Amino acid sequence: MNNLLNDDQLIERILEHVDNKTTDMGSEVWREPTTNYLNQARFDAEVALIKRSPVPFCPSSMLADKGSYVARKAVGTPILVVRGMDGEIRAFINGCRHRGMPVASGSGCARAFVCPYHAWSYSLDGKLKNIAGSHGFPGVDPNEYGLLQVSVKEKGGLVYVNQEADIEEVDLEGYPDFFSHNQEYFEQESLIDQTNWKLIAETTMEGYHIKGLHKNSFYPYGLDNTNVVESFGPNSRVVFPFRRINDLREIEPEERNIVGLVTSVYNLFPNTVVSILSKHSTLTIFEPIAPDQTEILIYRVTNQLNDGSTVNKEDAKYDADFVKGAGLDEDREAAVKIQETINAGRNTHLTFGLFEKAIVHFHQNLEKRLS
Ligand code: FES
Ligand SMILES: [Fe+2]
Repeated sequence: MNNLLNDDQLIERILEHVDNKTTDMGSEVWREPTTNYLNQARFDAEVALIKRSPVPFCPSSMLADKGSYVARKAVGTPILVVRGMDGEIRAFINGCRHRGMPVASGSGCARAFVCPYHAWSYSLDGKLKNIAGSHGFPGVDPNEYGLLQVSVKEKGGLVYVNQEADIEEVDLEGYPDFFSHNQEYFEQESLIDQTNWKLIAETTMEGYHIKGLHKNSFYPYGLDNTNVVESFGPNSRVVFPFRRINDLREIEPEERNIVGLVTSVYNLFPNTVVSILSKHSTLTIFEPIAPDQTEILIYRVTNQLNDGSTVNKEDAKYDADFVKGAGLDEDREAAVKIQETINAGRNTHLTFGLFEKAIVHFHQNLEKRLS
């Protein structure tokens, strides 16, 4: 369980903030050394932390059918996640046991994986089925040559992997269920920016910049510096209300519904964000490449409406295009420019204030887990 407010409580808290011109605030100002966005040793320690954490890999809806798979690198490690004929999801190091070639790429649906190098084949549960020209490999026992397993768990519409430890029930305790099975996956995007992964992550964790940075994109629809900010474990949720949430004042409290009136952004420590937007939702993974380079990997799914039906893919895509063309690019550009001023080496700290409570929570946890 977690202590996140339910929808009714959220509505009440937001309307109170609007009335009082307030927002949720933290209790301390945090100064983060800029060297932590430059230093290779620090970067390596963060990558190691991500490898030993349960990290969302993809939405479950990408793996709806038996044989459906997603192969990609997660912090540099090639990983293959597949739904077996028994309906179970399994994850493997995506490397053939012969000489290490990846056995799958991208996403799709397969009956088996045939290595593109010398055609060794593996069943969906990772077992080595066939060695092409097996008489050339005397003494090689196929039972010992299955794909190497990685710990994986499916929960609440997401598939999580942990590269270096088993994912236990308790690791995901308090994580909300994000997506239902009828929310359809409709697109993915990969963007590479010259910025530290934390700088781009930080843009998602506060609403203090809505009027400043998003003056002509989000601000016409959204409220500035009016947020509900909560944490659960090392994670956080920041709720960004739209102006139209004020329409709820005309509706009896028991009939109010928050769907479509806020954007909820869940930062799943360390490097992942789930955003529930108006007509679609995203799973975003910040893949650190170098201290000053990050891949932003975004998976998009349709949203569920109040009546249980789902938004059609065209409407969801229209919603996604608006967010992409507007706020997302502004956030990305800010993160790249900040990296440049950090690279200049004169400013010793970034300062996060009481409005940036979720970022402070993030850095507190990062520091704790790295030390
Ligand atoms: S590397 Fe896969 S069959 Fe040779
Ligand atoms: Fe932003």
